[in-house]
Order: sequence, then structure tokens, then C-alpha cells
Amino acid sequence: MVMQAFYESAYIAVYISSMELETATLSSAHPQGTASESVSRWWDDAVIYQIYPRSFADGNGDGIGDLIGIASRLDYLKRLGVDAIWLSPFYVSPQADAGYDVADYRNVDPVFGTLADFDRMLARAHELGFRVLIDMVPNHTSSAHEWFVAALAATPGSAERGRYLFRDGNPSTGSGTARELPPNNWQSIFGGSAWTRVDDGQWYLHLFDSSQPDLDWNNPEVVGEFESVLRFWLDRGVDGFRVDVAHGLVKVEGLPDTDETAGLLTGGSNVGPMWDQEGVHDIYRNWHRVLAEYGPDRILVAEAWVSPTSRLSRYVRADEMQQAFNFEFMTTGWNATGLRRSIDAALADNRSVGATTTWVLSNHDVVRHSTRFGLGDPTSWPKGIGPADEQPRTELGLRRARAASLMMFALPGSAYVFEGEELGLPEHTTLPDETRQDPAFFRTAGLEIGRDGCRVPLPWKSQAPAYGFNESGSSWLPQPPEFAALAVDQQDGVVGSTLELYRRAIELRRERGLGRGDIRWQLATKDVLHFENSGVRVVTNFGHHPLPLPHRVSVLLMSEPDAVIDHELAPNCTAWLA
Ligand code: GLC
Repeated sequence: MVMQAFYESAYIAVYISSMELETATLSSAHPQGTASESVSRWWDDAVIYQIYPRSFADGNGDGIGDLIGIASRLDYLKRLGVDAIWLSPFYVSPQADAGYDVADYRNVDPVFGTLADFDRMLARAHELGFRVLIDMVPNHTSSAHEWFVAALAATPGSAERGRYLFRDGNPSTGSGTARELPPNNWQSIFGGSAWTRVDDGQWYLHLFDSSQPDLDWNNPEVVGEFESVLRFWLDRGVDGFRVDVAHGLVKVEGLPDTDETAGLLTGGSNVGPMWDQEGVHDIYRNWHRVLAEYGPDRILVAEAWVSPTSRLSRYVRADEMQQAFNFEFMTTGWNATGLRRSIDAALADNRSVGATTTWVLSNHDVVRHSTRFGLGDPTSWPKGIGPADEQPRTELGLRRARAASLMMFALPGSAYVFEGEELGLPEHTTLPDETRQDPAFFRTAGLEIGRDGCRVPLPWKSQAPAYGFNESGSSWLPQPPEFAALAVDQQDGVVGSTLELYRRAIELRRERGLGRGDIRWQLATKDVLHFENSGVRVVTNFGHHPLPLPHRVSVLLMSEPDAVIDHELAPNCTAWLA
């Protein structure tokens, strides 16, 4: 009764402050162009599924996922109902950073298969009606790339070195090859100095691992090469590219020292002479033109850890990229006030440049949201979780993750799903150190646990070797025993499972046109988010008490089978009402 009174009164007056009124009519519907144009803007409301090829499905049984495996599981994604898939890198690579260290941009690593396997996978995906995005890694190559091999063999000042950022050491520390300090104080994202010294005394820049030398994007040869690589894949028929470290390609002239600690893969903003420089936009304008030659439906997606969203939205101006990952939404965590703020900012900022918004809660670089939301502080942002760290409350985390995902699917724009989140997979938080692969773990001497815990191979069958990831039972990272109960065969067709929740949410979202709708806030407090989109009222209870629902509504979908009892929404749940 008390709760009833609370909610009813909240409905009457409390919640629409003047600021809220300002944003209450925000719309993201068809921000650009005419109806016919919007038909080709398939990405505006697309659900895009991230495949991490190493861990999705393993066709040849070597313990690492591959393209044959992916092709064999596309039907599963069809049933899930997604519109597009994005594949993390499968190019020739020493795999020092799980393929984000590319040695040959025009071929497939034998670990993943062959170009013919790629073509077959692509053809099958297209047959099923999926758009296919692939990863492009332009900030750095692998040190095994022929360009870098040539650069090492060449002399300082040579054209070969000019494709990368080779510099002499800090002059204050001596002269010639005796110079001992790196050219500046930049730190690698993965820990340690961002410079490595070569035999003749010069240094090269690597914002990531020493096996990932940064390219010099002021060099026209670099510009031309990537244009040609884009065409190589566009000619094969891909629908677009997710652009790795999109905000890092251009560095401030002279590479000045900085006091900013590089905050990639964190919620912090990326300020500093290596991030978000004006020059990157020229690169994407050029790429935009290249893609446009292939038709109006090829897209670029920015992985740009840039904040606030007003900076991020500059990447999706009409003549640049089509999408940028909304990391602010992802890093906010389970927090009604923060999410409300981030939703409003993302919608407004994207709208101001004529773009639609993306929503993302998990990917291959971050702790899975089902685990983060089960931590004592569900807004915390650990860089990996190890056995010695606080362990999540799994059930609570999953409950909140399902609620957050259901809220996400009701927002206007495009939603990204990271493989396995549709199964409610948790992070593997007790991986033994000897199994770890992430360079961040090694470069920080274990101080950062790293990203392996979210990259564990998917469970398909609870009773099969490697839970059906392959037939051999081998797995490049060990799978935790909890995966058995979460395997696809345990959830398929099971009412109330996370898999069925995702399927239904994606289906209903399409039927109701939520991805192309508008939102109107009905209530936003620290305990409740309630908005309306296209006639669907979406309520999430972040509080500790059951929440009485408005009268005369029926439940379309709820995040738990028992989320709504006696017309009250349980804590940590979302309901779609009509
Ligand atoms: C991006 C990728 C990440 C990779 C890094 C370097 O952030 O998502 O996995 O380690 O770039 O390429």
C-alpha cells in the first residue's frame, strides 16, 4: 500500500522536472533524410552481434574458433533474430593481441581458415539476410607485417621507417645511439613505456604492445594502403568495418610529453596528444567516400573511447562514419541516474549531427555486464577479475544484466550484442594465471588481470566435450563449470531462459518499431527508469522494493518469469508494458 502510494504520487507530479521536460520529447526517429533513404539506413535500428572468432565455434577442433565454425552456427544467429554480425579480426597475425596485431590485411590466418572459408561464410551470411561487418585495425600493424620487418632492416630516416613513428631517443640523455630514454613519456595502454628501442638506437612508438607498432598516418603511403585494403574487402562483399582505435590514428605534431594517463578501455575521457585529434576526421571522410562508391548501405563503426558524447558524435557526422560505439552507456553500470543521463546525452548529441545512437553493454575488452552488475558496486569498472579479487554475486548480476539488456533493446537506435551475453554468460573470474593470454596481464606484471575472462569459448551443449565448442574438447581458454547449465541446448526453447528472453525482445522490438521510435520519460529517479517508446512503456526497477506498476497496462515482456507479481515489478527487473 505504501509503495502504491509512492508510485502513484510520483506519477502525478514529482518526476517531470523542468530539465526532464526539455528532454522528454527527444526523438531519434529518421534523423536524416526521407523515408526512402531511411530504408537503406539499415543500421539505424539494427541489432548487431559481435562474433569473437577465437571463441564462437571451432570447426577443426584445434581449440580455437574459426570461420568454418562460424558458418556452421549462422542459423543459430538467424533464430536469435539479429540483423548483422561483426567479426573481430581473423587476418594473418602472430596473435600477440588476439589478432589485433595484423601481419597481412588481405588474408586469413590459418588458425581461422582460408580466404575461401571467408567467402563461403560471407555468402551463407548474406543468404540468411545478415549484413557482415569486419574489423579494420589501422592504428598499428603487427611487428611481423612486411612493412615493419622492412623498417627494422632499413636505416633511420629511410622511407621504410617513415611508415611508422620511429624517433631518436630523448636528447637530454646523451647523444647518438647512447641516448637511453625514449623520445617522450607516453605510456602503453597495456602498461609500460609506449616506446621500444631497436638495435641502432632509434625508438618506435606503440600505443599498445611492442608487437603493435603505430603507423604514421601523415604518410600518404599509409593512407593509400588502407584505402586499398578497404577495397579488397568491399570487393569481396563485406557490408562495412568496425574501426579499431578510431580516435588514435593521428598524433599531435612533435609528439609532446603529456601528463594524461591514456585511458583507453576505461570510462575516462581520452585527452592527450594521441587521442581524438582533428586529423582523424579527414581519414574517415575519405573512407566514407570509398564506401559510398560501393553503394549507400556500407558502413563504418567507430571504436572511439572519447567522451563526452558530444565529442564522439563528431565521428558520425553525415560525411564520416555511420555509427560509433556508445561506451558511455556501457561504462555507466547499473545506475538509474547515470543511465538516464547517458541515454539523454547520447540521443541528443547524435541527433544534432543527424545520426542514430548505438547501445552496448559488453564486448571483448570489458568484464561482461552480468558479472559487473553482480559486484558490490555495480558501477565499478575492473580491468579484469581474478581469483584474488572480489567475486560477483552471479544470480544478482544476471538478473540485473537481463533487466539492463531488456531496457537497451527498447531504446531507439542500434543495439550491439557480444557473443554469449544472450546466454547470460558470466565472466570467467578464476582463470589460472598460466592460461592467460592478454598482453595487458604480462605488460603490467599481473597488476591488470586483463580481458581473457570475457573471451572464453561459448558453450553449445552441456554434456559435450568443451561444451560443444568443438568435437575434440580442446579450448584455448578453459571454460568454467557454470557454462554447462548455460549452454545453448539448456536454454533453447526453455521459457524464461536468457536466450529466449533475447529472442523475444529482439522480435518484439522489431514488431513494435522500437529501434526507430522516440522515447518520452515517464519517470526517472535513482530507483526507477520508465520511458515510453512507440506505445510500449518500459520500466526498470533499480531499487530494493517491489514497484507498483501503472494501472490498465498489460505486460508484453519481462526480464524474469516472476518479474511482475500482483501488478508489482520486482527489484532488478524490467518490464515492457502496453
Ligand atoms: C581495441 C580492441 C582491443 C585491442 C586494441 C588494440 O581496443 O578492441 O581488443 O587490444 O584495440 O588493437
